[in-house]
Amino acid sequence: MSEKVLQIDNLQIGYGGIEAVRGISFDVNKGEIVTLIGANGAGKSSILRTLSGLVKPKGGKVIFEGEDITGKDPTLIVQKGMMMVPEGRRIFPNLTVLENLKIGAYLRNDDLEQDIEMVFGYFPRLKERAWQAGGTLSGGEQQMLAVGRALMGRPKLLMMDEPSLGLAPIVVQGIFDIIRKIHEDGATVLLIEQNANMALHVADRAYVIENGKISMEGTGAELLEDEQVKAAYLGSAK
Ligand SMILES: Nc1ncnc2c1ncn2[C@@H]1O[C@H](COP(=O)(O)OP(=O)(O)OP(=O)(O)O)[C@@H](O)[C@H]1O
Ligand SMILES: [Mg+2]
Repeated sequence: MSEKVLQIDNLQIGYGGIEAVRGISFDVNKGEIVTLIGANGAGKSSILRTLSGLVKPKGGKVIFEGEDITGKDPTLIVQKGMMMVPEGRRIFPNLTVLENLKIGAYLRNDDLEQDIEMVFGYFPRLKERAWQAGGTLSGGEQQMLAVGRALMGRPKLLMMDEPSLGLAPIVVQGIFDIIRKIHEDGATVLLIEQNANMALHVADRAYVIENGKISMEGTGAELLEDEQVKAAYLGSAK
């Protein structure tokens, strides 16, 4: 019944002699939010960078919409409809908000106005600041811009690397409210987070990554109730 958008099979990623990801398999169905949670250095960003084509895996397969895209170039992967919001946002500081958004649609030129209005609908704050330089936005606004820029590419799969990083709780709540809304509007999302509490509340399904391997998986609700997850990742948050 459920249509698989992404299938990861036995993915292995290494840097020189270091094995960062040691045989990970997971999948994302159409319309789902799937989250990968894990501590610093668990291998989360390595996985997203590999899915985006920025890192070539040592082994395993990445299948997107039934097509093997393992080791393909980032431009082709973006063309296929996989957009990443990278860790640390990486917006262009000297370009305006509007220019940053237009870059998200660099592979096409049609309907830009409509898509910009769609992004401003999610993030009215960006509309007020359309002419402001990206680098002068607050951290939360920069994260909104990074998400908005990815949406400009009309992603079939939106991949986000720690959107909550370095943001105040109230701003994190706002970002997650938008992730929920984008998802309700039909987006398929792969979300990487260290903020397990927020991520598990928004996710349909989740995988816990420990030392480059999946140690647990389940629905967001199941993992929120799991004693091991509570002890290791939820702390006093729950
Ligand atoms: N370019 C690189 N060269 C060498 N080692 C790397 C490189 N990138 C990542 N690593 C190593 O791979 C491991 C996994 O790193 P990764 O960035 O994927 O972790 P992460 O789960 O995203 O952590 P964080 O939550 O801190 O962002 C770490 O031990 C890291 O030092
Ligand atoms: Mg990371």
